[in-house]
Amino acid sequence: MEKRVAIITGASRGLGFSTGCELARRGYLAIFTARDGVALNHAAKAIPAGTDIHLMSLDVTRQADVDSLARFVTSHCGRADVLVNNAGILIESSIDSAGPDPSAFIVAPEMVLKTFEINTLGAYRMCQAFLPMMKKNNYGRVVNISSGMGQLTDMGADWPAYRVSKTALNALTRIFAAELSGTNVKVNSVCPGWVRTRMGGKSATRTLEQGTKGIVWAATLDDMGPTGGFFRDGTPIDW
Ligand SMILES: NC(=O)c1ccc[n+]([C@@H]2O[C@H](COP(=O)([O-])OP(=O)(O)OC[C@H]3O[C@@H](n4cnc5c(N)ncnc54)[C@H](OP(=O)(O)O)[C@@H]3O)[C@@H](O)[C@H]2O)c1
Repeated sequence: MEKRVAIITGASRGLGFSTGCELARRGYLAIFTARDGVALNHAAKAIPAGTDIHLMSLDVTRQADVDSLARFVTSHCGRADVLVNNAGILIESSIDSAGPDPSAFIVAPEMVLKTFEINTLGAYRMCQAFLPMMKKNNYGRVVNISSGMGQLTDMGADWPAYRVSKTALNALTRIFAAELSGTNVKVNSVCPGWVRTRMGGKSATRTLEQGTKGIVWAATLDDMGPTGGFFRDGTPIDW
């Protein structure tokens, strides 16, 4: 396949959907994946006409889904150029949405584990499935959608499950980038800022377009671009 191929997880709405649309608009074959096939099909109606897209069901916690996508990409495309690990949850907000922020004294270990399973291991599974193909082709751009809430330098109280999952995701960025040093496969973490999505809520300060811009920047880095970094709006931020 001549076109570059971009795979996006959690692409049924929010930042994943807008990133997929922008990459498709830029000429990539954008593979929109989501665990809810019905929601994905519905969302797809808003994808700009004339773009090259593919829709696929994928729950990042299911190894079988990841393997099946890898088989599809290998046989139909022979390449995976961009991987945007976007799928994520923030389930601590369900504890008491009207009450105080969820404290590490009350968030159950099971909630931490569930969040880790999606936000961290989901990206890990996807990296294990697609980075070998990128390495073989000596081209790849991996964007792990992280958060300022995972920054150790600015670590605050509350939201332990989400915070820990994103700090660990940042560690994965560093590990995979180090293992791929000397290749043209770049692995970076990006914080989109506080964006008005279902997760970010209506009070968030940034538009979807503002949040998407920094993700697309990392997904389309040229060969001189950075790897193993943490960025917001294309600017490095502390771990
Ligand atoms: N919005 C913000 O302010 C903000 C700030 C910093 C970082 N982020 C990060 O940005 C990313 C996107 O968030 P968003 O704001 O766009 O949130 P969103 O609107 O809630 O979208 C999250 C997406 O992830 C999907 N997802 C959840 N669990 C999944 C799973 N097991 N497998 C596959 N897909 C799954 C959701 O699909 P379902 O419909 O199936 O649940 C949905 O499509 C997340 O990683 C989030 O942590 C967001």
